[in-house]
Amino acid sequence: MKLVLATLNSGKIAEFRQILMDKSFVNVRSLLDYPTIPGIIESRRTFAGNAIKKAVEVSKHINAVTIADDSGLEIDALDGEPGVLSARYAGENSTPGQLITKVLKRLEKTPDVERTARFRCAIALVIPSCEETVIEVVEGVCEGKVTLNKRGEHGFGYDPIFVPLGYNQTFAELGSEIKNKISHRAKALGMIMKLILS
Ligand code: IMP
Repeated sequence: MKLVLATLNSGKIAEFRQILMDKSFVNVRSLLDYPTIPGIIESRRTFAGNAIKKAVEVSKHINAVTIADDSGLEIDALDGEPGVLSARYAGENSTPGQLITKVLKRLEKTPDVERTARFRCAIALVIPSCEETVIEVVEGVCEGKVTLNKRGEHGFGYDPIFVPLGYNQTFAELGSEIKNKISHRAKALGMIMKLILS
């Protein structure tokens, strides 16, 4: 089965591929394989809204099962920021370093006990059909907290400053094998695979 990931984010693509590694019947593609598909503006106010928009737009160009992920970090002490703005929190084309610097600066005076946060991942699924196109959306959450400093080299985005609940190391220290078992993305993708296979 061909499964198109409606993203150009290489960090996300690597994680999807690893999570789906034992599903040998799934032939994973991404927008890197379809360079002519135009970029999609994430204009919605929720992760689910943006995920649906991306999956629906991409599926108009490709007649295959398509999924899109919209995800980010919600920090309680910042009233849920950066949230849907996670990729652009320090301005358009923010680097991971700039994003992390901004978050740590805004949390400068926040004590450890109040640094609770979660990663949220919405994944939308589109299964095109001439009879009835299926559109579903699910969400996975990974609770944890934001560290005082960057730690670790693995992963992408905010991984160096996020410690998942029940662990002492950041996602960037834990590495992909553990992250991809407990992450927001792994949970959401598990739900999506159940829907695809049901
Ligand atoms: P978007 O889903 O393309 O809007 O981008 C979400 C942004 O949230 C990414 O660019 C990262 O900065 C951040 N993000 C989402 N998921 C993760 C994750 O698993 N680890 C670290 N950062 C993440």
